[in-house]
Amino acid sequence: MLGELNWDRYWRFELFRRRCDPLDFRRWKRDSQRELKALYPGRPRLLDATAGLGDHTVNLAEEGFEVTACDTSAVAREATAAALSDAGLDVPVIATPWAELGARPERYDLVFNDALHWTYDEATLRAELAGMLAALEPGGALVYFFADAAEPDAGAGRRVLEWDWEQMSRARVAWEHTLGERHVCLSIVAERGEDFIDEHHLYHVRDRSGATALESLTMRRVYRWDHARLTPLLEEVGFVDVRTDHFPNVKGYHFAMNRAFRPR
Ligand SMILES: C[S@@+](CC[C@H](N)C(=O)[O-])C[C@H]1O[C@@H](n2cnc3c(N)ncnc32)[C@H](O)[C@@H]1O
Repeated sequence: MLGELNWDRYWRFELFRRRCDPLDFRRWKRDSQRELKALYPGRPRLLDATAGLGDHTVNLAEEGFEVTACDTSAVAREATAAALSDAGLDVPVIATPWAELGARPERYDLVFNDALHWTYDEATLRAELAGMLAALEPGGALVYFFADAAEPDAGAGRRVLEWDWEQMSRARVAWEHTLGERHVCLSIVAERGEDFIDEHHLYHVRDRSGATALESLTMRRVYRWDHARLTPLLEEVGFVDVRTDHFPNVKGYHFAMNRAFRPR
């Protein structure tokens, strides 16, 4: 249904696309995992809280972290388990929602989360941060993205939104592939609010008999959790020493990787 993000549906179609698209996503996304490992010698225990299809999970385990993968989407967990098995890695895959990670107290040196800023609602995000804090060993760190201490003013997230909105088509065909007897075309329609852009995904599916179906979901890009707005929330929940480090990525641009620590 439009207006809702159904991760299982998203990942089902993303798996279909990747069967048709030769891009090596895992290699392309490796920078933050490699830079994080350079900061942590040895074999720290890391929870990959956003396993998705397992790209970061495999990379993090290959870099030398002792990884646990976590995702509430059953399709994501199944794909992550398959990716780990293909890579010959023995990594547990769990389904615990971030807000319930207190059930695994003080178990990790690091929690890696590339989708923290996708939670729109403040009370929900506070509960999720508290869950991740509880799962960390004292002195451990939550690793997250989007916010950037080099852009400390209150308008930083909004500036990214304006830039993204300017670059973005209001309506576009994102991809179209045929695999066997199945044809799928994804159209995306974008709609903006003050601190978010909703991307409505419309999947047009045609099967062997010519029967067609339409499936949909909405992905909300959230721009409110910049450094100015997220840091006080992290500190209210009990994190300390919020910091950003910058690293070059595979394309030569710099990206910001943040850490917020559980007090010792
Ligand atoms: C942006 S995707 C992760 C992408 C992945 N890291 C990659 O590189 O391909 C975010 C994932 O977080 C999961 N997720 C979102 N909210 C969650 C929550 N509260 N608890 C656990 N998993 C959650 C979603 O199911 C989704 O698979």
